[in-house]
Formats: sequence, C-alpha cells, structure tokens
Amino acid sequence: MAEPLFRAEGLSKYFEMQKGSFARKKYLKAVDGVSLEIDRGETLGIVGESGCGKTTLGRTILQIYRPTAGKVFFGNMELEGLSERQMLPFRRKMQMIFQDPYASLNPRFTIGDIVEEPMAIHGMYTPARRRERTQELLSLVGLKPDHIRRYPHEFSGGQRQRVGIARTLATEPDFIVCDEPISALDVSIQAQIVNLLENIQAETGVAYLFIAHDLSMVRHISHRIGVMYLGSLVEYGGVEQIYGDPLHPYTRLLLSSEPVPDPRLARAHRAPPPEGEPPSPIDAPPGCPFCSRCAFVLPECAADRPKAYAQPDGRKVRCFQYSARRRQQRRAFGVRDIADAPAQRPHAQHPHVQHPSAQNSPVPCPPAQRPPWSPAGGGRA
Ligand SMILES: Nc1ncnc2c1ncn2[C@@H]1O[C@H](COP(=O)(O)OP(=O)(O)O)[C@@H](O)[C@H]1O
Ligand code: SF4
Ligand SMILES: [Mg+2]
Repeated sequence: MAEPLFRAEGLSKYFEMQKGSFARKKYLKAVDGVSLEIDRGETLGIVGESGCGKTTLGRTILQIYRPTAGKVFFGNMELEGLSERQMLPFRRKMQMIFQDPYASLNPRFTIGDIVEEPMAIHGMYTPARRRERTQELLSLVGLKPDHIRRYPHEFSGGQRQRVGIARTLATEPDFIVCDEPISALDVSIQAQIVNLLENIQAETGVAYLFIAHDLSMVRHISHRIGVMYLGSLVEYGGVEQIYGDPLHPYTRLLLSSEPVPDPRLARAHRAPPPEGEPPSPIDAPPGCPFCSRCAFVLPECAADRPKAYAQPDGRKVRCFQYSARRRQQRRAFGVRDIADAPAQRPHAQHPHVQHPSAQNSPVPCPPAQRPPWSPAGGGRA
C-alpha cells in the first residue's frame, strides 16, 4: 500500500498553566492523542467547537509548536528531533493558510513583496523569476498581475484571503493546513474561496487539512472528516460515513442542527438538543470528556477514557458504545442503533459533572428499565 503523504500518531500538545514541582504542575491538554493520515491530493476536514484544539493541532502538525508527545511523519521521514535547519525543506513543503485575512498580511508590505517573501526565504529562483512567478500566482488565485504594487488595505477580505493563498502556494507545498480560511468571509465569498482551493488541488495535487467549526463548511471539500472534541478526534472516517450515518453522540449533536433532506437518513441524525458545556481542558476529570453532555451514557463512561475503536466500515469512534463488546451486545438483542436503546441517563454518575437530565434522578434505573446489555455492575467494555 502506498505510504500516506502525512501521518500523525498519538499527537499531543499540552500547555503548562501552573509552574511548580512536577506534582503541582497543571497542564491544558489542547491536543490529546490525535492519530490521522492524509494522502496526496486528499482533503481531511477537521471540525469542532471553538476552543477544542483545532488551531493547536494544525500548528503542532506543522511543527510550529513542538509536540508534547506522539510522532509526525512527512512521507517516511519522522520530524521529531530535527533541528530548525533540518526542518527547512519540510517547512517549504508544509504551509498554512490563516483564519484572519486582515491580520495575516503585513500592512507595510506591497502584495508583490508579501507573495514573493517565502520564495526569497527559501532561496528559490532569481529575483527576476520570483517577480514573474508572483504575477503568475496572483493570476492563479484570480487577482491581476499588476496588483503587485498595491497594499493589503486596498483589498476586500476575500481578495486578501486570495493573496494569503498565493503566498502559501509560492513555495510549491505538498500539504497545506487551512485554518478556518473562510470563517471570517461573507457567505457569498466563502464558496468562491472553496472552489479556488479545489481547483488548485485538482491542478497541483496538494493535500489539505481543512479546519472549520461546523460540518457544513467542510462537507463539499473533504474526502475524510475528523470530528474533534476537547483535544481528541472522537470520530474519524469518510465523508459519506460521517454525514450519512454519524455514530459518535457528539457528531450526531453537530449534525442535528443541519436540515436532512433524506427521511431515511433522519433517524441516524436524531439527537437530543445541545445541553451542557464541555469540561475545562485543564486537569480534566477522568472518564469520557463528553459525559456531561451525552444522552447515551453507559456505566463505564465516568471511570475511563474511551479508546478510538475501529469499526467494521473502517472508521474510528472514541466511544464505549462502539467497543466490540457493546456492538456485539446490541447485535445479540437486535438493537440497530444506540438511539433505539432505552434511556440510560440515570446512569450518568460522573464524579465531577452530571448530565443536566440526571441531576434530578440520583437513583439508578430499576432493573426492568435497564437495557438488556447494561448489567447492574456495568463492567468495562
Ligand atoms: N499558546 C497557548 N498557551 C496556552 N493555551 C493555549 C495556547 N493556544 C491555545 N491555547 C488553549 O488551547 C485550547 C485550544 O485552543 P485552539 O487550538 O486555539 O482551539 P480552536 O482552534 O479549536 O478554537 C484553548 O483552551 C486555548 O485557550
Ligand atoms: S463514551 Fe459514553 S459518555 Fe462518551 S460519548 Fe460514548 S456513550 Fe457518551
Ligand atoms: Mg482556531
């Protein structure tokens, strides 16, 4: 099998929040054990609420932040431990498009200087060829070659994002992290920028990690999707799998706000309305971090953090409901979907946060109401 262009294994980035002796140190786990891979010419969409760690993931992948743990491979080369000098060729091949097209361009530089600068830094071409190439890149992103003498303040948000894309393409990257590149733009401009990125991909074979905060933004551009919650990928699979048959309770929650045109798919999208807040990423309690908002809580959810369980269709789901044991139990009792199981909310006895609906129900379900695969003792999946 061909090697992926890019691969991350168990990637983590913790920020130290409180200094002191080892025992007293507090860490904010912005990215916690993320594994993913991206092939040439592919787009992996990363979706999650604000603050869940998307930007930190993008920056750690590009080694702007050095990872706290985990490995990153570009082709067959592991990037861990490389000096800045050894990293230079990889920095040229891995670039980033930023969220804010107003803040990301130096207002004192002309558009020509902004686009040309990365080529100069990496010692590419002669000065004359660099100028020529800058004009070619501006044409490629839908701007005029004579815009090189203008300044960023003379352009609209959409045009500035085009300049940012031209600058990113200047070093001929194989892989670009697009950090919410359309979130700050008017809805009418968003589709234009997505189309531009798709055309560039078709022409150059570049791979994208496309970050967004809602699923509708990544739907059309992505081949695969990773749904992120509090630093981890909770569901990771093909775009048809995620939209057609979302499994993780958080993916269902994200999708439940979207209209579903096909009534056959409506069942899978069924989810209770959003409730509760995610726990703090600083010293998060044990157990599943989605426990406080989940409508499908199992006895084991409060004690342990679920692993990323591989599913028969190839996707990975970080939820005890999709462990091999729980899937087998559902099959044995003829239950097709977790939403068809009797309510289990009274079991949500999380040590730090309780599901809002569980707060008035401290008494466990009587045996008759318990789902048949949920024995009184709970047990590990
Ligand atoms: N440099 C930093 N130092 C400390 N905490 C940070 C830093 N950057 C991000 N964070 C924290 O990490 C978490 C994830 O942030 P971020 O990656 O920006 O999320 P997103 O891009 O999904 O909105 C947040 O709680 C944020 O406050
Ligand atoms: S592991 Fe438990 S709490 Fe977490 S999402 Fe799955 S069912 Fe809900
Ligand atoms: Mg961000």
